[in-house]
Amino acid sequence: MSNLKIRIACINDVEGILSIYNEGIVDRIATLETSIKDKAFMLEWFQRHTDRYKVLIAEIEGEIVGWASLNQYNSRSAYDGVADLSVYVKREYRGRGVGGNLLSSIEELAKENSFHKIVLFTFPFNELGQGLYKKRGFREVGVFKKQGKIDDQYIDVMAMEKLFV
Ligand SMILES: CC(C)(COP(=O)(O)OP(=O)(O)OC[C@H]1O[C@@H](n2cnc3c(N)ncnc32)[C@H](O)[C@@H]1OP(=O)(O)O)[C@@H](O)C(=O)NCCC(=O)NCCS
Repeated sequence: MSNLKIRIACINDVEGILSIYNEGIVDRIATLETSIKDKAFMLEWFQRHTDRYKVLIAEIEGEIVGWASLNQYNSRSAYDGVADLSVYVKREYRGRGVGGNLLSSIEELAKENSFHKIVLFTFPFNELGQGLYKKRGFREVGVFKKQGKIDDQYIDVMAMEKLFV
């Protein structure tokens, strides 16, 4: 994808981030969140992602087609070196390399910002996510059985990690 550009997000990207996040919520394959979010929610989220915990945007000819973020894993200082990862690609662009590009760029950003590892939580049935994370060297830590409930069904959640040191 030669026309794909990866850059740091700015506040004007919040609506694009929101619309892709809401697709992920509706699709029930990415998050235990079930209610659609609004702009106020996403703005508040973005304010917490302007320092070390950053957001990257994937853009094709001015259109936001995906984003990835480093999120705070735990507020205790012992966990300062651990970032939690989110990555979301617009429906019609999934499976075309956008997530892979976002992931390699956000790993570099994590190292530059003194994180020594990235952790993520995914559903064992999210095949595109699994394929991508394994290809990028993430290790399966384990599976929490019946960790969450979506639409009255218990969901298993897989923890994965990638260490840089
Ligand atoms: C998960 C997600 C971020 C992946 O991004 P993507 O752009 O679709 O992924 P890519 O095309 O970069 O890479 C997918 C990789 O998975 C693998 N893959 C592709 N199709 C696959 C399939 N059907 N089954 C298993 N693995 C597959 C391949 O290794 C592929 O890489 P390659 O084709 O370069 O070898 C994206 O699909 C998405 O936004 N999904 C909805 C939200 C979500 O699930 N977010 C993650 C929450 S944990």
